[in-house]
Amino acid sequence: MNKLHQHLINSIPKETKSIKVRFSYDAMLRHGFSLLQLQWLSVGPAEGDRETEILRLFASHRPDLKIELLEIYELSKDDCSVLRRKVDKSREAQDGTWSSVGEVVVNDKELLPDTEMGSRYDLVTLMHVTYYLPDRVGVFKNIAGNLAPGGKMW
Ligand SMILES: C[S@@+](CC[C@H](N)C(=O)[O-])C[C@H]1O[C@@H](n2cnc3c(N)ncnc32)[C@H](O)[C@@H]1O
Repeated sequence: MNKLHQHLINSIPKETKSIKVRFSYDAMLRHGFSLLQLQWLSVGPAEGDRETEILRLFASHRPDLKIELLEIYELSKDDCSVLRRKVDKSREAQDGTWSSVGEVVVNDKELLPDTEMGSRYDLVTLMHVTYYLPDRVGVFKNIAGNLAPGGKMW
């Protein structure tokens, strides 16, 4: 964890201590989830290549784990169109990536400090995104307020 991440974490209210910021698929699987059902929020996935890879890993290492919801906030409408096609193709082909997710919601808008989210998430990923956020602390606080108990931010 670098100094900026540490500073951001320190500025998050104490009651949301369960947050971890780390970026490693292996670690994600190792530290894992004792849960069997997961609600996942991904911010800024672009075309969703990393999410596809994580879904593939989950499918092979944690077949018991069901991703009920994968909700996306991606401000690029073009990326969202590509992503929606990817989801449709995966569902058609039943290829075990996006097709394995209960519900995929693609919001083609920016996640902001005051964006109202519809769920409590067990996993929140912001992969190569935090340095694009003008108000990182605001966005982190928003996410922290929408984590399920034991929820993790990566
Ligand atoms: C460097 S790309 C990373 C893409 C992908 N996560 C990856 O790791 O390859 C950053 C992405 O974050 C998106 N983004 C930046 N700020 C955002 C915000 N506040 N809400 C949603 N998406 C955002 C950009 O549109 C872009 O697609």
